[in-house]
Amino acid sequence: MKIAIVGATGEVGRMMITCLEEFRVDAELHLFASERSEGKTLYYNEETLKVRKLTEDALREKYDYVLMSAGGAVSKYYAPIAAAAGNTVIDNSSAWRRESGIPLVVPEINGGLLKGYAGIVANPNCSTIQMVLALSPLHKLYGLEMVVVSTYQSVSGSGHKGVQTLQQQRQGSSDNGIYPEKIDLNVIPQIGAFQDDGYCQEEEKMQFETMRILALPELKISATTVRVPVYYGHSESVYAGFAREADLQEAGKALAAAPSVRFHDNTYFTPINCLKSNDSHISRLRYGTDRHSLCFWNVGNNVRLGAATNAVRILLRHLELNKEQDR
Ligand SMILES: NC(=O)c1ccc[n+]([C@@H]2O[C@H](COP(=O)([O-])OP(=O)(O)OC[C@H]3O[C@@H](n4cnc5c(N)ncnc54)[C@H](OP(=O)(O)O)[C@@H]3O)[C@@H](O)[C@H]2O)c1
Repeated sequence: MKIAIVGATGEVGRMMITCLEEFRVDAELHLFASERSEGKTLYYNEETLKVRKLTEDALREKYDYVLMSAGGAVSKYYAPIAAAAGNTVIDNSSAWRRESGIPLVVPEINGGLLKGYAGIVANPNCSTIQMVLALSPLHKLYGLEMVVVSTYQSVSGSGHKGVQTLQQQRQGSSDNGIYPEKIDLNVIPQIGAFQDDGYCQEEEKMQFETMRILALPELKISATTVRVPVYYGHSESVYAGFAREADLQEAGKALAAAPSVRFHDNTYFTPINCLKSNDSHISRLRYGTDRHSLCFWNVGNNVRLGAATNAVRILLRHLELNKEQDR
């Protein structure tokens, strides 16, 4: 299988290469990034690969899949070029997530949308993916009506520059780097620009994308997204309200059985433990203010589950569904 990775040198691009290896995808990889990375060496199954500068012509070639993670502006411009050449493009940026004709996919929830589909597929926001994986089985049981979520998001969520900023501050730098305030020894309740309604962009993404993926346009949802001085792994405190009474034992069993979810009973899970994990971890499950509500603590690796792993799972699901269709 011939696969192009655009943004191959970034936090997500490098993890895509690792995930393709771990999921044993037999691929011929073509790696692209900006001019700055031209000629850099990366490895796939011990094969040495050179990074090339992204060009329009490179994406006019035919690939089985094009995996993009080079930011919204690059995706807006280059994804249509790749799609027009007949390529299926799986895009990690926020550029296409609100387009009604473009599926926004978490394969375990709405992977069926990929059947017979060709073109651009949008990968959701990292903090949304881990939360909807947990909310989906609870919604099936009790009818989800309301979500209040506060996040504790790692610096790798802002890409390589976020990681660098925290590293430099730990070494004594007083430069705020890419953040509006110092991030080391601090927390910042802003991710992305503020909108007129007082919410910041990351909060709007979580709200909109949760409604879209769960197909719940009437869902009441409010997010507060916070950057914390953690390198990898996003944590979330989730409060969910339901139409029907929940049962704690039954909810725990449903979470334990849900795909790509790990349920931790009588203990809790922290982001330092999710470096190699592709799952959404749920712990501290308990009732909220009444039996129509549940609270839980949710941890996921933003670069894996929140980006690269979900993209590779989309690729594999697309392949499986469209092979079946060809038969
Ligand atoms: N990090 C996360 O947790 C996460 C989660 C979900 C989604 N995403 C999304 O995934 C995308 C990438 O994020 P990241 O964290 O991997 O960022 P990153 O570490 O900053 O990497 C960005 C990548 O894009 C490449 N790039 C930048 N400008 C380019 C251009 N003009 N042409 C070609 N390549 C270009 C960079 O190449 P150079 O190395 O040559 O500069 C690098 O490979 C973003 O849209 C982000 O919102 C990230």
